[in-house]
Amino acid sequence: MPDKINVPDEISMDKPRGASRRDLIKGVIAAGAVSSTAYLFRTTLVRAQQPAAGAVERLVTLTVNGQQRRVDVMKQETLATTLRYKLGLTGTKLGCDRSECGACTVLIDDVPHYSCSVLTHTARDKQIVTIEGLAAADGKLHPVQQGVVDEQGFQCAFCMSGFIMATVGFLKVNPNPTRSELAHGISGNLCRCQDYDKILTALMQGAENLRKES
Ligand code: FES
Ligand code: FES
Repeated sequence: MPDKINVPDEISMDKPRGASRRDLIKGVIAAGAVSSTAYLFRTTLVRAQQPAAGAVERLVTLTVNGQQRRVDVMKQETLATTLRYKLGLTGTKLGCDRSECGACTVLIDDVPHYSCSVLTHTARDKQIVTIEGLAAADGKLHPVQQGVVDEQGFQCAFCMSGFIMATVGFLKVNPNPTRSELAHGISGNLCRCQDYDKILTALMQGAENLRKES
């Protein structure tokens, strides 16, 4: 066995060259850190200077229930996903997730929309109202919500927030509907428990409550 392993000059640990093993290891770690940092910064720089074609800003501001909310949004993300899973507004329900049931209905600039079929990015600069935004600041229920409570209009109530939002939106354009007009106005909402007659009675009561308050 040789007394000493031959080491190339550039990494020799011979004392006369003034570098200890500890110094060598420090140097290697430092060099790795520098090159990693350089790589990371390079990536950031490249991204900053050359946004991908069709890229959209991810950090957006939404106006939800009168409040400005900053949220990180993917370009293909739906408003229902953003509201429920990023802003914690779980009163908006997801039923079909494909524009069939209305459970996800919210108001966008006072018009009812299926939030499962609205891309969040398209709702920037608009007023979004969810079921959580209907009650007054002191906790007093919206007249339509109160009508539902008065008439106990729903069974499991999974569909309830969507029906209420659709009704509130409809009453903005027709505040004094007949029963059949309201039924037609909210016909984009489905109830799996199928107690439509009772639901309609509750929502008509809500419409009457609203007229009394106006
Ligand atoms: S969940 Fe949006 S329409 Fe059914
Ligand atoms: S009350 Fe159950 S889905 Fe409508």
